[in-house]
Amino acid sequence: MAAMNDEKLPLRYVTPIAWANAALTEPLALLNDHAHLEKKAATNALELLSRWPEPVPPENWVQSMTAVARDEVEHLAVVTRLLSRRGGKLTRSHHNAYASALHKLVRRGKGPDELVDRLLISALIEARSCERFALLGEACDDRELAKLYKGLWASEAGHYRVFLGLARDLPEAHRVDQRWDEMLDEEVKLITAQPPGAKMHSGLH
Ligand SMILES: [Fe+2]
Ligand SMILES: [Fe+2]
Repeated sequence: MAAMNDEKLPLRYVTPIAWANAALTEPLALLNDHAHLEKKAATNALELLSRWPEPVPPENWVQSMTAVARDEVEHLAVVTRLLSRRGGKLTRSHHNAYASALHKLVRRGKGPDELVDRLLISALIEARSCERFALLGEACDDRELAKLYKGLWASEAGHYRVFLGLARDLPEAHRVDQRWDEMLDEEVKLITAQPPGAKMHSGLH
């Protein structure tokens, strides 16, 4: 496993540590938002599992999606356990404006292009979450929470590589790098436009 921050993430906006300090002022709200993201990440992996490119799933497709989904459910269990032990409650509904805006970039109904976009957006969300877990791990004084965030950093870094790798292995791989470049620019606009708050994908004042 690479040491924290050793790996270069491709992101084109670097979140300042002030973001983590602000988000950690409401740790229960942050854990609730975080739990919902883990749940969404699990369902996204299961959803992608059956979206494999025709005619048959690539060799590592089902295995990769299953492994990601299993990891995310495990993360969800850890986060919700912590939330409840600390007196917090998982809310029923949740909205992630950042992820919704990213999903609007998907070229729906465009066959292989749609799949490329879905994989790249999954990779982007993983990479941004990974960046933010590293910051939270660094900024957090609470040892239990710091351990959680530092532990998740490595797992989400692995997921980012899985999704990007699957996209690059598609038969349409020649179009993937250009689309990745466009998406990295779009992601900067979206993450910096988010309002501040105790959320994994919030902005700064
Ligand atoms: Fe996760
Ligand atoms: Fe993940």
